[in-house]
Amino acid sequence: MDLREILEEAVRAPSGDNCQPWRFEVTGDTVRIIDLPGRDTSLFNHRQRASLVAHGALLENLAIVASTRGYTIDVTLFPDVSEPELVATVLFRPGAIQANPLHDAVKVRCTNRRRYDGSPLTDVERRAIASACEGYDGRLILTGNDDEKAFLAGIAALNDRLVFENENLHSFLFDHIRWSDDEARQTRDGLDIKTLDLAPPDALAFPLLKRWPLVRFLNSFGISRIVAGNARKLALSSSALGLILIPGAGAADYVNAGRILERIWLEAARIGLSVQLTTGITFLMQKVLEGDTSGLTAPHIELISEARRKIAARFGVTSETIAIMFRIGKSLPPGARSLRIPVAELITIEQ
Ligand SMILES: Cc1cc2nc3c(=O)[nH]c(=O)nc-3n(C[C@H](O)[C@H](O)[C@H](O)COP(=O)(O)O)c2cc1C
Repeated sequence: MDLREILEEAVRAPSGDNCQPWRFEVTGDTVRIIDLPGRDTSLFNHRQRASLVAHGALLENLAIVASTRGYTIDVTLFPDVSEPELVATVLFRPGAIQANPLHDAVKVRCTNRRRYDGSPLTDVERRAIASACEGYDGRLILTGNDDEKAFLAGIAALNDRLVFENENLHSFLFDHIRWSDDEARQTRDGLDIKTLDLAPPDALAFPLLKRWPLVRFLNSFGISRIVAGNARKLALSSSALGLILIPGAGAADYVNAGRILERIWLEAARIGLSVQLTTGITFLMQKVLEGDTSGLTAPHIELISEARRKIAARFGVTSETIAIMFRIGKSLPPGARSLRIPVAELITIEQ
């Protein structure tokens, strides 16, 4: 079995700012998947939850790819309490080769940050997305209702406003922009500027916004509100906006959220729909809800709490965790696709 080839396909999974926070230790038929906290130090990645979502997506890809090569996988999450960074051990067992309708989508799935065409989802599309995560422990809210879209677009706007008003969030984003093809190819991580699909005037202004002191100064003239306005428009251009809710807020819950997310995203890719996550704020909501306000100003803490309260009231969320927010719709393909670090650089193999 060539585990490396299977992993090579699976690492097409999404991760926050394309940080790819993982490494692999292979012994025989077993892979240990290890989180790398140093890869994603964003305030959004509170308690590694954004990275755990990425690991969940990776595990879902692994299950799909393995099945098409005649393996089933047994996943044990967090098998050793003394090793919290060990997200999972995955045992590959020989089984029947099974065609999987989502397999081709593992290669094709990507983020599309363009404006979408605003047309509603058909009933068939809606059902396909809803059934993609049936049997998984979570709840999907998918709304194309104008009023609810406007409400969630306001939350997506707040997400981007915070990035331009919080130094940690701002620096982390700009440290991960790859400004040229060469830089993208050298690092094979981060956000290739072309994947942002910025419209011409924004594309000219964007490099200037790299410098935090300038952004802080421009915020007195409302630059963060302009950025927020763009995010709102993008969200409103979508066919529907989605939320993934999970039963708890433990590490395994977030891995599970990542599996659900990946299934939805793969199904969307399979039927030709575009997806973008608009989700940093959901991690801040949970952080603040748990009483951890470090790294945030008092006005932002209030805005984040209020956003959570309003989502909970509108969608009847009581004990569940609001894990992920995304937009979905129809659009031209993205201008570029993100690269990945070769698995050879991430793997150790013990005979
Ligand atoms: C937990 C998590 C949070 C993310 N948040 C955002 C986001 O708020 N905005 C965005 O445009 N992309 C977001 N992404 C998408 C990543 O930037 C994207 O997956 C990564 O750059 C790789 O690109 P790809 O999805 O095209 O493969 C997020 C991904 C994950 C896993």
